[in-house]
Amino acid sequence: MPGLFDSFTIKSITLRNRIGVSPMCQYVSNDGMATDWHLVHLGSRAVGGAGLIIAEATAVEPRGRISPTDAGLWSDEHIGPLARITSFISKHGSVPGLQLAHAGRKASAARPWEGDHSLKEEEGGWETVAPSALAFGDKLWKIPKEMTIQDIMDVQESFALAARRAWQAGYKWLELHAAHGYLCHSFYSPISNKRTDQYGGSLENRCRFTVETLARIRAVWPNELPLAVRISCSDWVEGGWTMDESIELARKLKDAGADLIDCSSGFGSPDHRKYPFGPGWQVHFSEAIRREVRIATASVGLITDPVQANEIISSGKADITLLGREMLRDPYWPHRAAKVLNVDLKSIAPAPYAHWI
Ligand SMILES: Cc1cc2nc3c(=O)[nH]c(=O)nc-3n(C[C@H](O)[C@H](O)[C@H](O)COP(=O)(O)O)c2cc1C
Repeated sequence: MPGLFDSFTIKSITLRNRIGVSPMCQYVSNDGMATDWHLVHLGSRAVGGAGLIIAEATAVEPRGRISPTDAGLWSDEHIGPLARITSFISKHGSVPGLQLAHAGRKASAARPWEGDHSLKEEEGGWETVAPSALAFGDKLWKIPKEMTIQDIMDVQESFALAARRAWQAGYKWLELHAAHGYLCHSFYSPISNKRTDQYGGSLENRCRFTVETLARIRAVWPNELPLAVRISCSDWVEGGWTMDESIELARKLKDAGADLIDCSSGFGSPDHRKYPFGPGWQVHFSEAIRREVRIATASVGLITDPVQANEIISSGKADITLLGREMLRDPYWPHRAAKVLNVDLKSIAPAPYAHWI
């Protein structure tokens, strides 16, 4: 079995190690445009030695932003600033990835540090869309418009166009955001989908939107490049989406062309307080999907310790580990992990650093 610092090849792409930066919204874009902040934020984590850097949830249409200052890829104008970032990341040995997203009924909200609540139109908010006209609840009180079949087709087209632009911007890894209560998840979870047409009801019907969207992306995203999907493996609520259903969804996504399942969970309802947070609390999801579906997986969630991350890989519970908040604390986490695991720093640190440390 490989360890954390062994390379990982998937399609034509080889990651130098099994450490990835999990996608994390920065909420500092203007009209969806990437800025110097993104170059420094993502670039420093490439210098820090991560094998994969997945840029934040990037909206495929303005309506799909969580907040007014989310990143976007709904026009060709977004490509240039992103290309600058992918070029820097690639030059420093990391693989640049991007997460494509649509926030659905969780869109049109204030930034987390400004309250996280639904924004009225006069506060810069907009009409949201979802499988059913049901508000998320709590501070996200906005009732979304139930999507028509035409709306569904239009959003899927936006995903395909954004995927093409991501490729033009130099990304080598693409992830469909189908977790955390956003549009895809709200279609497959029975909590948020009460439709009676071909997009609601049975498991097959609830999965249809996500599987079709993945297939639309796969049709334009080069076949030799990896395509991942982040799913919420459980709603953690009575009567909600389950792990068994996740295995079925992962099978369908694999058949539709997914190369890796990024296994997260929850955030489809305001009930977060009940989650069993703890070190590696979502590892069992990536382990089960990897074993049952025979597809590569990523594990995420309170992975903070090099020995812990190495064990996840070496025991076959995931193919890569993704770190979120620990990478915010320390962009050089891979350098520190290499020291702990007795790996030669020269394999990941850039020459102006490696010579000295
Ligand atoms: C500031 C911040 C922004 C986030 N934005 C995203 C996002 O854009 N897409 C996503 O799938 N998850 C997002 N997440 C979740 C993380 O990717 C990750 O799954 C979560 O933080 C758990 O990992 P951790 O315990 O290592 O932080 C975000 C988390 C944080 C802290």
